[in-house]
Order: sequence, then C-alpha cells, then structure tokens
Amino acid sequence: MGSPHVRNRYEPFLGGVFMITTLIIAVPSAVKSFNYMATLWRGNIRFTPAMMFAIGMVSFFISGGLTGLFLGNATLDINLHDTYFVVAHFHLVMGSASIFGMLCGVYHWYPKMFGRMMNEKLGYFHFWLTFIGAYLVFFPMHFMGVDGVPRRYYAFTEFAFMEKWVSVNVLVTWAAIIAGLGQIAFLINFFGSIWKGKKATQNPWNSNTLEWTTPVEHIHGNWPGEIPTVYRWPYDYSKPGHHEDFIPQTVPFSETMSSNMYHDFEGDEEAIRIQEQWNKENNRVVEG
Ligand code: HEM
Ligand code: HEM
Repeated sequence: MGSPHVRNRYEPFLGGVFMITTLIIAVPSAVKSFNYMATLWRGNIRFTPAMMFAIGMVSFFISGGLTGLFLGNATLDINLHDTYFVVAHFHLVMGSASIFGMLCGVYHWYPKMFGRMMNEKLGYFHFWLTFIGAYLVFFPMHFMGVDGVPRRYYAFTEFAFMEKWVSVNVLVTWAAIIAGLGQIAFLINFFGSIWKGKKATQNPWNSNTLEWTTPVEHIHGNWPGEIPTVYRWPYDYSKPGHHEDFIPQTVPFSETMSSNMYHDFEGDEEAIRIQEQWNKENNRVVEG
C-alpha cells in the first residue's frame, strides 16, 4: 500500500502525508474487525466448519492487519520495506484471510449448490491443517523481516547473516507442503459429497436469509408459485420472546407478536399501534 511513498526519505513532508493517509486505512479495517467480533459476541455460535473458517478469516485479518500499522509508520518502514515482514503482513491480511473467506462460503452454501451436505469431520480436519499451516508458513516471516531478510531473492545463502534463517525456511517450506496436501481433504470432500453426501434439508443451518427458503431441488424461477415477501432484516437470531433461535426474513411481524421490538417497525405508526394493542392485551412489557 504505497510502499515507496510511505518510507520517502528525501521529502519528509511528503512521507508524512503518505504515512497519515496509509494509517487511515487502519480505521475501516478496525471498524470491520470490531464489527465481526460484535456480531459473534454473546451469539449462539455453532462451530460448523463454515463458522470455523469465518472465525479463521477474522483471526488472519486481525493478526495481518496489526502489522500494517508498523509498516504504515514511515520511520519503521525504512527498515521493514522490502523485507519478509511485508510478505508476512500481506499473506496474513489478504492471502490467508481471503482464502478462508472463500472456503467459508463454499462450506456454507454447498448444500444450496448441490443439495447435499459436506462431511463435517473432513471439514474440521481441513480447517485445522490449513489454519495451523498458514500461521506456520507466514508467522515466522515477521522475525526474518525484522532481521532484514529481503523479499524477492531467489537464494538465501548469499549473505552470512541470512544463514541462521535457513532452518526456519525449511520449516516454512514443510508447513506449506503439508498445508497444501491438506487441500486434498477438501477436494475429496467437495467432489465426493456431490454424490455421497448426506441429503440436505431445506434450511440446514437454521439461517434467516431468502436463499434457504427455496426448495432443495433447483427449479426454474427458484421458488414454486409466488415469490416470497421479505418482511424483516436477516439478523433476527435469539430474539427474546420467540420460541425458535431464528426467524426467517419471510415471516411477517403479525406471526411474531411476542418478540417484535419497536425498532423493527421503523416508525410505521400503524404497525406500532397494532403491536402496542397486542402488548396491552397480553401483558407484555417491551423496553425501549
Ligand atoms: C491496517 C491496515 C493496513 C495498513 C496500515 C497497511 C500498510 C501497508 C504498508 C505501509 C505496506 C508497504 C510495506 C512496504 O513495502 O514497505 C503494505 C504492504 C502491503 N499490504 Fe497492507 N496495510 C493494511 C492492510 C492491508 C489490507 C487489508 C490488505 C489487502 C487485503 C493489504 C495488502 C497489502 C499488500 C498486498 C502489500 C504488499 C504490496 C507489495 O507487493 O509490495 N494491506 N501494507
Ligand atoms: C500456501 C500459500 C502461499 C505461499 C506458500 C506463498 C508464498 C509466497 C512467498 C514466499 C512470497 C515471496 C517471494 C519473494 O519475495 O521472493 C510470495 C509473494 C507473493 N504472494 Fe504468496 N504465497 C501463498 C499464497 C498467496 C495468496 C493466496 C496470495 C494472494 C491472495 C498471494 C500473494 C502474493 C503476492 C502479491 C506476492 C508478492 C509478489 C512479488 O514480490 O512481486 N500469495 N508468496
């Protein structure tokens, strides 16, 4: 992210401008990170393989993003630029995080795509091997970078000071090979489950969003008959007063009188009046 500019040694003012604009990137990154964590906070989390990959993505995004703050600092970056510290930073924040995000999507929407479930045990095996593997590959690179090992060199035996890192490079290489082989578990699971996977139910994850209201078999137009109406946002999980942990977006408020909140109605006076009437008749107390 603007590397030659950030470490600009010839024009300190320009370097300062780039430093500030680069470090401002940390603001949306931090907002997203707190956003992910606040979404999980006190939630009724089910650690399915898809959820593991989602949490793994958050982990990489944070541990990779933190080193962005070091790199964004112009004085520190004079030393860190073009070293393995940069390679560590971006493989965690962008490489690992994006791959984990994609794998999460595959595990989550697989039943939608093929009407069958992926094997959970293989999913966990794949997750742990890839998660530990990715950290073993990219984490040690920070230390090499701080010691000055440059990136984009084809051999690491040219300079005496790099020799002590040869054993670490061997570790990193093995970790990459093993994590790479771990992807075979994913491929077997992906292709095998198309034919051998357990048949999926319509909404296997108890999800609220619209795609899980279509039938398991793919049909023209997605829904048989009428296209469903969306009444609510997709985050109505664990709502106090509702008998189930989730309320799909297609369930109207009139069917969930015991759990509706005033903010659900977004100032719709008529809906609020009906709800207040119901609350009074049923002795329901709503806060806020
Ligand atoms: C906290 C937020 C971030 C900050 C402050 C930051 C800062 C930096 C800086 C200063 C560099 C240059 C280091 C150097 O070469 O001397 C760098 C490199 C890099 N960053 Fe970030 N970064 C952040 C987040 C991200 C994100 C979210 C991504 C991508 C998803 C990313 C991808 C990259 C890549 C690909 C490079 C290396 C480019 C190259 O090949 O030279 N960074 N980052
Ligand atoms: C197991 C997976 C991976 C391994 C072992 C790996 C390894 C490496 C290594 C060792 C370098 C540094 C080469 C050098 O400086 O001499 C590198 C560069 C790079 N990698 Fe990866 N990488 C992996 C996955 C990824 C992914 C998923 C992305 C992007 C989403 C990515 C993007 C990059 C980029 C942009 C560079 C910089 C290339 C350059 O210096 O011009 N890598 N990778």
